[in-house]
Amino acid sequence: MNASIPLAAVLGTSTEVSKSPRLFQYWMREYGLLGHYIPINVEKARLEQTLRTLPELGFVGVNVTVPHKELALEIADIVTDRAAIIGAANTLIFRTDGKIHADNTDGYGFTQNLVQGAPDFDFTAGPAVVLGAGGASRAVIAALLEMGVPKIFLSNRTRHRAETLRTVFGARIEVVEWVTVGNFLEQSNVVVNTTSLGMKGKTPLRVPLDGLRPGTLVTDIVYTPLETDLLKTARQVGCPTVDGVGMLLHQAVPGFERWFGHRPEVTEDVRQVILA
Ligand code: ATR
Repeated sequence: MNASIPLAAVLGTSTEVSKSPRLFQYWMREYGLLGHYIPINVEKARLEQTLRTLPELGFVGVNVTVPHKELALEIADIVTDRAAIIGAANTLIFRTDGKIHADNTDGYGFTQNLVQGAPDFDFTAGPAVVLGAGGASRAVIAALLEMGVPKIFLSNRTRHRAETLRTVFGARIEVVEWVTVGNFLEQSNVVVNTTSLGMKGKTPLRVPLDGLRPGTLVTDIVYTPLETDLLKTARQVGCPTVDGVGMLLHQAVPGFERWFGHRPEVTEDVRQVILA
């Protein structure tokens, strides 16, 4: 194999459903770049061995998806601050000295999606409500705090997971009960769903939304369907909304740029390709 052609991959256990290969191949074609980006399924027990072997085969890095993001962070030799605080890695760079460098670009993807989707919105103007306290929530909270959101009302069905995130992120987080989170919508400037609720084939999000007021920015990390019930209701109320597919696209940008040498654009065309 020609070592000058970059090879990268996405590692998980169900990578056949990953949209990343299509995204990377689209960008390579778009910018006339040579390279390969392939899906690789690997079980947990073989993750470390695989990660140590891939550089020897000419791979320059990988994206990591469920369920390996936490273990990938543990295996890595060097970890960025943002990956450490999120507790998971989604982008691994295989350095020429043999070390594995782990980063997490989910929060970056979340922020860039909002900046692109609501360029004039003032995120510092009031509190945010964040629904969910899983892996995605950590990246979202880190991103919101970095954007200057003054306070986050964090709510999760399983309260102790939210309490854990309060310990991680500190006093700007206030944990609120899942059953009463609707009461906090009225005073919120931003609302984010980080749970899988509302995803096609999953349980609907049943939070009462009557408290939503026009002007609150509402976003959902679920993007199948693109317009979730949450976003539909928000739009009817007069809220600006940002759908979730851009987060997936933007989180891939740093890895693509690093491995294939060109910073790709997140355009309407690439959105359509991924949604097709
Ligand atoms: P991810 O890494 O994608 O965030 P996760 O860590 O499994 O996945 O988190 C999923 C989130 O969706 C959690 O906040 C979860 O709530 P629990 O911590 O109580 O499990 C939330 N979630 C999933 N199914 C839910 C349901 N039926 N009702 C309420 N919340 C749900």
